[in-house]
Amino acid sequence: MNQTPNVTAMGAALLRAAHVVEDTPPWVLEDTVSAGLLTTAERALAAAELDSWPSEVRAAFRLAHAVRNRLAEDVAVEGLDAGRADYVVLGAGLDSFAWRHPLAARFRVVEIDHPATPRWKRDRLRAAGLTEPADVCFVPLDLTAASLAGIELPAPATWSWLGVAMYLEPPSSRRRSARSLLRAPARRSSSTSSSPTTSSTSWLVPSGQ
Ligand SMILES: C[S@@+](CC[C@H](N)C(=O)[O-])C[C@H]1O[C@@H](n2cnc3c(N)ncnc32)[C@H](O)[C@@H]1O
Repeated sequence: MNQTPNVTAMGAALLRAAHVVEDTPPWVLEDTVSAGLLTTAERALAAAELDSWPSEVRAAFRLAHAVRNRLAEDVAVEGLDAGRADYVVLGAGLDSFAWRHPLAARFRVVEIDHPATPRWKRDRLRAAGLTEPADVCFVPLDLTAASLAGIELPAPATWSWLGVAMYLEPPSSRRRSARSLLRAPARRSSSTSSSPTTSSTSWLVPSGQ
C-alpha cells in the first residue's frame, strides 16, 4: 500500500489547472481550485516533469485533462435527471469537482483513492481554507488489494475513473474493477485509459441504461 501521496495526482491537477492559465478561452473546464492544493515544492516537482515535455505534447495533455473531466462531469450532471445524485470518483487524487462545480451541492460525492492520498488531500484542503462539504465522503482503498464489490457503494450512481486504470497493476486488478463497474445496476461510468501509444476516453454503460 502506498504511504505517500501520488505524484501523478499532482500532475493531473496541474495539467487541469493550467488550461485556464495557458490556453485561450473559451475553456472547456475552469479549475481554479486544484493548483491551490499543492505546495510550492509539490508544484515544482510536478512542473519539472511536465516542463521536460515538448510544448505541443504539454498542450495536448492539458486539453485532454480538461476535456476528460468536463465529459465525466457532464455525464454526472445529466444523471441528476435520471435520479443519479451519487458521483463516485475512483482514484480521485486532487479532483476538484466538489469544490468548484456549480451543481456540486446537488451531489453526494464519494472519492476513492489509496489511503495516503485522501489524507494528504484533506490536509491540503484545510491549508487552502476549503471546507469539506457534508456530502463529500473519502474512502481510502487500494484498488489492487480490495474489490469494489466488497464495499457498500451507492447505486444508482455515476462513476468516473479518470487516469487511473493504467496504474492498476497487475492487469487482473484493472479487469476486476471494470467488471464490478459493469455488473452493477443503474450505473454509468466514464473512464480513460492509455498505453504508450494510445489514450482514450470511454463510456461504460450497463445494458438497459
Ligand atoms: C493520474 S492520477 C488521476 C487523479 C484524478 N482522477 C484526476 O484526474 O485528477 C491517478 C490516481 O489514481 C490513484 N491510484 C493509483 N493506483 C491506485 C490504487 N491501486 N488504488 C487506489 N487509487 C489508486 C492515485 O493515487 C492517483 O490519485
